[in-house]
Amino acid sequence: MLSPQLLPKTPNPLSSIYTPNPFKSLNPKTLKPSKPNFKPKPHNPTTIQSVLQWNRKPQLAGDTPRVVVITSGKGGVGKTTTTANVGLSLARLGFSVVAIDADVGLRNLDLLLGLENRVNYTVVEVLNGDCRLDQALVRDKRWSNFELLCISKPRSKLPIGFGGKALTWLVDALKAREEGSPDFILIDCPAGIDAGFITAIAPANEAVLVTTPDITSLRDADRVTGLLECDGIKDIKMIVNRVRTDMIKGEDMMSVLDVQEMLGLALLGVIPEDSEVIRSTNRGYPLVLNKPPTLAGLAFEQAAWRLVEQDSMQAVVVEEEPKKRGFFSFFGG
Ligand SMILES: Nc1ncnc2c1ncn2[C@@H]1O[C@H](COP(=O)(O)OP(=O)(O)OP(=O)(O)O)[C@@H](O)[C@H]1O
Ligand SMILES: [Mg+2]
Repeated sequence: MLSPQLLPKTPNPLSSIYTPNPFKSLNPKTLKPSKPNFKPKPHNPTTIQSVLQWNRKPQLAGDTPRVVVITSGKGGVGKTTTTANVGLSLARLGFSVVAIDADVGLRNLDLLLGLENRVNYTVVEVLNGDCRLDQALVRDKRWSNFELLCISKPRSKLPIGFGGKALTWLVDALKAREEGSPDFILIDCPAGIDAGFITAIAPANEAVLVTTPDITSLRDADRVTGLLECDGIKDIKMIVNRVRTDMIKGEDMMSVLDVQEMLGLALLGVIPEDSEVIRSTNRGYPLVLNKPPTLAGLAFEQAAWRLVEQDSMQAVVVEEEPKKRGFFSFFGG
């Protein structure tokens, strides 16, 4: 067993041979539901544990509702894409989900979900007493256990007095709904670390940090990790988005292992760069609903599965000197 601290420092000689092996288990050709008499293989530390398991429902870990903020620091790295795809995956797995678009003024979660024409009321109207909370919740027609809640109308400014306390009140109101508390409340955080960020993280008790494998995104992610910890959010898992294995092999992009070494966070998912993401964004049809599934869609689905079970990805690393140190080493977040 090799701990991340013991791994070679940069330049990482492994980066050319390390591939974020999650995709190994995501070959769409091999993704057939298991036969009913399927027996899970005994634990083998040289293989990845977190594979899609079609013959069971993931076991929800932790107290509900799980209030999860999706954040990043740097803008444009894929927070909203993650919220939409992980959120709908959770709904497809049978959990009730409320996704809150806390990106005031620049909201776009409704667009990604194709729900923009159905947002008649927002939290601002709820707080003003112009409508009830359930009127502001937009129920997805594809998955009725998924609901969207927007803070305000597009291009509007942060309402005066709207801050962490107001968002916490809102989350408490969602918990106290007559029809029952949702299993997951996902908060799509705005970019940056100013007021919007402070507001968005206030009610959360866990965080998903989205980063891309580039140095600017990583520096911001590191800063955000510190801020989340200061706020008492200790459960922080990361999603590495827009990964290109061809560039990693050519040593033009940091490997997932490098990212994990730099941030020291548990890995929830590795999402490949995929033009289907952009296509699905423009269509307002989240990637995870695509048939046949794409690699990025499956990777989001796998991340959702791990979020439910509070599992983090086990990465397989091929050692530099196989004879001396064993062929595989293995670490998890
Ligand atoms: N894995 C991916 N492959 C290709 N394109 C992607 C991927 N993930 C995200 N994108 C694209 O990157 C752009 C930004 O994504 P998104 O809006 O989710 O980022 P964000 O972090 O929410 O941005 P902001 O900070 O502005 O809120 C979108 O055009 C999206 O389609
Ligand atoms: Mg966004």
